[in-house]
Amino acid sequence: MQIQVGIITVSDRASKGLYDDLGGPALKQAAEGYGWKVLADALVPDEKRDIQRAIREHIARGCSLVLTTGGTGVALRDVTPEAVREISIRELPGFGEAMRMESLKSTKNAILSRNLAAVVDKALVICLPGKPNGALECLSFVVGAIPHCIQVLQEVPTSC
Ligand code: MTE
Repeated sequence: MQIQVGIITVSDRASKGLYDDLGGPALKQAAEGYGWKVLADALVPDEKRDIQRAIREHIARGCSLVLTTGGTGVALRDVTPEAVREISIRELPGFGEAMRMESLKSTKNAILSRNLAAVVDKALVICLPGKPNGALECLSFVVGAIPHCIQVLQEVPTSC
């Protein structure tokens, strides 16, 4: 089954053009490297409505996996987890637990990231940290569970 991906960079500064979006292109390259098809990308400010709208648009375009990067930290403007929770039907705590547990081995500030995964409609949404390397690293820690998760959500018959 081909995994169709949407990528969302969440950043006030990048969305204002104050610096280049490096996280989105890095995730696109990684997703293609995993053999997935990137259908859509977006760059939005740290606003719940914009994040939710971008997720819904990506899902409407056929994405079964949406990756966000940024806005998972402790700053007052960091609202990505709240935005996703508000529109999700369930959270998958294992993803955030694994990302933090593995990241903590090399980065003490990993404990500050509220990484999470949740189900929106029939899509898996994974919220990754804003630093491009952190986002790629966190994705690599959970990538093994993604195909099965998406098959189940998309109601593709599986062996387990
Ligand atoms: N996790 C990994 N694997 N690598 C990182 O560099 N950066 C941390 C953390 N998680 C990091 C990481 C830092 S410095 C912060 S502040 C939080 O993610 C939140 O990042 P965000 O607000 O840009 O999403």
